[in-house]
Amino acid sequence: MSDDSASSSHTGQPRVVLRNLVKRYGDFTAVDHLNLEAPEGQVFGVLGPNGAGKTTTLRMITGLLQPTEGTILVDGIDMIEDPTAAKRQTGFIPDRPYVYDKLTAFEYLRFIGGLYHMSADKIAERIEDMLELFELAEWGDSLIESFSHGMKQRLVFAGALLPEPRLMVIDEPMVGLDPQGHHLVKQLFQDLAHEDGLTVLLSTHTLEVAEDVCDQIVIINHGQIIARGTLQELRIESGADEGSLEEVFLALTEESDEERAEAVAARFGRD
Ligand SMILES: Nc1ncnc2c1ncn2[C@@H]1O[C@H](COP(=O)(O)OP(=O)(O)OP(=O)(O)O)[C@@H](O)[C@H]1O
Ligand SMILES: [Mg+2]
Repeated sequence: MSDDSASSSHTGQPRVVLRNLVKRYGDFTAVDHLNLEAPEGQVFGVLGPNGAGKTTTLRMITGLLQPTEGTILVDGIDMIEDPTAAKRQTGFIPDRPYVYDKLTAFEYLRFIGGLYHMSADKIAERIEDMLELFELAEWGDSLIESFSHGMKQRLVFAGALLPEPRLMVIDEPMVGLDPQGHHLVKQLFQDLAHEDGLTVLLSTHTLEVAEDVCDQIVIINHGQIIARGTLQELRIESGADEGSLEEVFLALTEESDEERAEAVAARFGRD
């Protein structure tokens, strides 16, 4: 193999690497020394109870939030050293998608293409494809303020995929989508990952989604990874051999809460 490390396609290196990632808000540690590798071409699910640190972690990976400590590599590019290059590889769908109501769908997508420095021809070609894919072709010239919640959500997906990112980060992907939208998005994640090599990193509370689409799952509690693996591996780890992901999830998070309580008692309790 040549030593041309400038091109990172098909190097087999992980698409995302987190090393000892920490985020503190004052005295409170929201993300506590997280280590993670997400390979290319996989749908990777981040699960955890409310307040576990999922959104905080995803926002750091997209470069929207500065870590307190640690390293984030996207496609081998250091997010802190070269945020522009790292962000260029990344599409992000936040938990509360923000769209500009006074733009048309077409204008919104053209704006995103501009942010990613795509050529005018490429933007036009991709906008057509994305509007088609997300069943918005008839609405390209309509103002976004006239869109239903689900249509806005589909437009946000179209925008995130427009620049052909190598990493898609999605915080709670299914909120606001109807069953057809659900189906479309689930199928899309798998096709993009397994056929085009995209890495999809998503957080979800919808365990059915995780069960259906994720190749690998990590469970976070109190800012730490408490379990990782395929659903089958997590079943074995939790002792719930035949259990649904819901049972596995509850067993693992309860166990982690108990261990944490014991550790706190051991540290602060009487001895
Ligand atoms: N800006 C902030 N200032 C202080 N604390 C924060 C801030 N943002 C998040 N936190 C805290 O960090 C912890 C992790 O929050 P985060 O939003 O990452 O959780 P989450 O796993 O996404 O939860 P949810 O499932 O409810 O979306 C929470 O306890 C939250 O209160
Ligand atoms: Mg969240």
